[in-house]
Amino acid sequence: MLILGIETSCDETSVAVVKNGREILSNIILSQDKLHRPFGGVVPEIACRAHLESIIGIIHNAITEAKVMLSDINAIAVVNSPGLIGSLLIGVTAAKTLSMAFNIPLIAIHHLHAHIYANNLEHNAISYPAISLVVSGGHTSLFLSEKETKHVLLGETIDDAAGEAFDKVSKILGLGYPGGPVIDKLAKQGNCNAIPFPRVYLEKNSLDFSFSGLKTAVLYHVKGQDQTRIKPATKSATEIADISASFQEAVIDVLVYKTALAAKMHNVRSILLGGGVAANSRLRKKFLEISEETGLPVYYPSIKLCTDNAAMVAGLAYWKYLEGDISALHLEAIP
Ligand code: KG4
Ligand code: ZN
Repeated sequence: MLILGIETSCDETSVAVVKNGREILSNIILSQDKLHRPFGGVVPEIACRAHLESIIGIIHNAITEAKVMLSDINAIAVVNSPGLIGSLLIGVTAAKTLSMAFNIPLIAIHHLHAHIYANNLEHNAISYPAISLVVSGGHTSLFLSEKETKHVLLGETIDDAAGEAFDKVSKILGLGYPGGPVIDKLAKQGNCNAIPFPRVYLEKNSLDFSFSGLKTAVLYHVKGQDQTRIKPATKSATEIADISASFQEAVIDVLVYKTALAAKMHNVRSILLGGGVAANSRLRKKFLEISEETGLPVYYPSIKLCTDNAAMVAGLAYWKYLEGDISALHLEAIP
């Protein structure tokens, strides 16, 4: 069973061919980071134009690299939600066109469920039910995962996503976009207890998240409450490293606490981590501590499969195909 997956929900154009839900034959990822960097974040209009320019070539490259023909493909999978509407529409339109022209079944994929599935591409003995934490640029969501294709939302951010907080703090510190990788690196040289940034847990047993207060606390710490204090460029490298480490620790403490809480509340058999922020080295280390605390196996994808990619899309689609979950050609893109 060969599935071609298409992912264009944000600022990566990616197409992959995956065999039987696990074997990645190709996974081409074109990042638009350079295009968005001057603006300090993703510009939706630039993102969808860039997808449009590259999607045909990337589909071609994914098929060529997989050493298959389009006529060998059993299904076309595409992320149709959630994401930037203009970006989603490019992938959905490309997928529908291929589906119609070559009479290949179309399968709609939820972006966050695909991030969770990235774990299944590399681990074939995941026990369900599981608690899944998806931490990306646009989302911070906890799910109760009953199987590969069934995820019940338990909690999510009420304001900024975790990745968004990394990106905004990076901007405050003048470190550029995307912020996650650079803060991850700088934090290794800093003291994570240097500044007591707030940890927001919301009400007792809440599985929702809030990171906008933390972002504002970093802003005030760096620039003062009236924002007139010294520019970040005048801060020493040690200060920047300490702020990075202290901010990162505040985000991770909350993510770890709530994931462990959800695991205890729902009596699950494993814990899964996914999304761009799952590439964070400190978060990966701390998640292993949840494993010690709860006695549950903890999984996270390899770095390349944490950020947006189409292999996770094509992989998840295999299970939906087996369940007969095929989409009609009037499939909509839902932001
Ligand atoms: O999943 P993803 O590729 O795209 C979305 O669906 O949003 O996630 C991108 C996010 C960005 O906010 C980026 O800063 C963050 O993931 N990220 C990281 C790391 N690598 C990427 N955050 C923290 N530490 C990292 N190492
Ligand atoms: Zn994503």
